[in-house]
Amino acid sequence: MLAGRRADSLRAMANPTVTPDLRLHRNWRCDRRVGYGPAQRGVVDRKSREAAWNAIASWPGYAPTPLVELPGLAARLGVGRLRIKHEGKRFALKSFKALGGAYGVMRILERETGEAVADIVAGRAREKAAGVTVCCATDGNHGRAVAWGAGIAGARGAIYLHEHVSQGREDAIAAYGADIVRVEGTYDDSVRRAAEDAARNGWIVVSDTSWPGYEEIPAWVTQGYTVIMGEAMEQFGGDRPGHIFAQAGVGGLACAALAPLWEDWGADRPLVTVVEPHEADCLYQSAVQGRMASGLGSLETVMACLSAGEASPLAWAVLETGADAFITIADRFSPEAMRILASGDAGPPMAVGESGCAGLAGLMAVAADPLAREALELGPDADVFLIASEGATDPAIFEDIVGMTPGEVGEDS
Ligand SMILES: Cc1ncc(COP(=O)(O)O)c(C=O)c1O
Repeated sequence: MLAGRRADSLRAMANPTVTPDLRLHRNWRCDRRVGYGPAQRGVVDRKSREAAWNAIASWPGYAPTPLVELPGLAARLGVGRLRIKHEGKRFALKSFKALGGAYGVMRILERETGEAVADIVAGRAREKAAGVTVCCATDGNHGRAVAWGAGIAGARGAIYLHEHVSQGREDAIAAYGADIVRVEGTYDDSVRRAAEDAARNGWIVVSDTSWPGYEEIPAWVTQGYTVIMGEAMEQFGGDRPGHIFAQAGVGGLACAALAPLWEDWGADRPLVTVVEPHEADCLYQSAVQGRMASGLGSLETVMACLSAGEASPLAWAVLETGADAFITIADRFSPEAMRILASGDAGPPMAVGESGCAGLAGLMAVAADPLAREALELGPDADVFLIASEGATDPAIFEDIVGMTPGEVGEDS
């Protein structure tokens, strides 16, 4: 089996799938016999996952998000089973990012005020929290989570948006009372600007990406995300999936999806494929080049929340040797995936955003390509797990693409 996988990797390297629709790199650095080690545990481990889950489960409105069966779509894509975790149901924020950004804010406030997270969440530390300003750069969802966490605790929030973030996403963040700062350029420009302003003003950056010397807070953010997998691993019951397609921007979500499976299930974990848009391909390039590398794409993609030019080193520490494959896909798969999920032909109708359905879009791209199917061992019995990482977080864009409002799909706008 293992030897077979290694042989497959080598075959895939010799015959890489590179078409206008799909690029695939089978990760020859991933040897599934190698256990979850200290480099990975430094990012997230069982103890930090449990701490995050205990804290987040105590937040008002917490409930596990549903794991939805998509039998119609499984049949259409020629796989045995398809399950998708619906993060559009995550708190009122409609994205998995609520778990990370807000957990990061709570841990910062715990450190800064000396108060317990439970007291901070309950608003009993508002006076002390008011002296703390947290800030971040965002494509939308992370900033919403940080603003939400700051609002609950009574801290100040300053959220930096690059020029491509839609007005709908800005409005959703501003609704939590945070100050909005618009930055010309890309996501990476907004990251730099937030860091500079924070250093000048004594604010605390809550980033979902890490850089050398700045690891503690993004590690908390990633640990918050792992709640998805804690819930999912219970929801799987005895039926463990064999495949995961995890979408990536800087890699935090994919890292949080892989880490618990690798640590808890070892070599028996599902085959993990990291999915990026062609135009935002930093993890794919890192995998191909065998070291952290910048993406080569323009960063212009309909999957706006995946538009990152540089991977997070923390995420890379887990993905580099833990992910089985890295793919990039053409933009057209994402709107197609949104429309299928909304139609009800896949399973129960779901309203999922452009980046939220990128894992499904990746599966669709692979399913349509015989060589890629073979390289990823995606046969007719494959049991696939996906994360719908956001709902219709920008209802106007959703309606534009799908031709229905989220309400018409049967979900709140
Ligand atoms: C909806 C959605 N999905 C996936 C991602 C990718 O997460 P990461 O940047 O941690 O890879 C993001 C990031 O903002 C997102 O908002």
